[in-house]
Amino acid sequence: MTMKKMTVRDVLDMKSGAEKITMLTAYDASFARLLDQAGIDIVLVGDSLGMVALGYESTVPVTMDEMVHHARAVKHGVNQALLVGDMPFLSYQVSREDAIVNAGRFMKEAGCDAVKLEGGLEVCDTVAALVRAGIPVMGHIGLTPQTAGSLGGYKVQGKDAESARRILAEARGLADAGAFAVVLECIPDKLAGAISKSVAIPTIGIGAGVECDGQVLVTHDLLGMFEKFTPSFVKCYAKLAPQIKDAISSYRDEVKNGLYPDAAHSFTMQLDIDELLK
Ligand code: KIV
Repeated sequence: MTMKKMTVRDVLDMKSGAEKITMLTAYDASFARLLDQAGIDIVLVGDSLGMVALGYESTVPVTMDEMVHHARAVKHGVNQALLVGDMPFLSYQVSREDAIVNAGRFMKEAGCDAVKLEGGLEVCDTVAALVRAGIPVMGHIGLTPQTAGSLGGYKVQGKDAESARRILAEARGLADAGAFAVVLECIPDKLAGAISKSVAIPTIGIGAGVECDGQVLVTHDLLGMFEKFTPSFVKCYAKLAPQIKDAISSYRDEVKNGLYPDAAHSFTMQLDIDELLK
């Protein structure tokens, strides 16, 4: 079955057609190809790259150069999914010009279709400027990992009336600024449901319940590959880390014991090698 390339318009139409949107992260071409072939609608080159692939303690140190490098690799594995590049910390907060130049790098150097950025009302002017420049933007509110410190750590947001109202206002502000979708991270399911009903753009939840228009997870989490920490909202659809370690131990043992490579995995020849080398 050949499917056509997903566009921002298609993502908006999925909300009006009540079709759930699927989004997952990728940081390299091989994973991107697997997600694309499995029919995932949106591939996000998340700045979770920093923790999952680069070994950092948080997403804060991730640079634009690192993001563009990985986004370019992911692009090579994506045919159909919409490709979104995640703007790293301080790549869009310093000035609007900076934001346009950096978002433009995702489009021009990596071939992304859109960018995502974290923040509420304080980033709406930047979102509007990017959209005016022709760059589709996905918002990200609720728990925003780049500024988790100022939110009191990696905690559920919007539990009291004041912060629930603020998050709703942020979603509306982002929609008004021209964002085509918004990620809702770690907020109560009913609040996510109310936001999803009150904005025309799709909401994509992560730890935000089933009433969102779509869902996103970090791929390594759902595959059980990132053992350092698994948030409670993550469902592990596989437990690959132990399987990978078993496979690697078997390889190690077989090499150490001279069992790999065997004849089936070697290039054999009929000629007598001693004769041949005379
Ligand atoms: O960086 C990331 O992977 C993300 C998603 C989990 C939403 O922002």
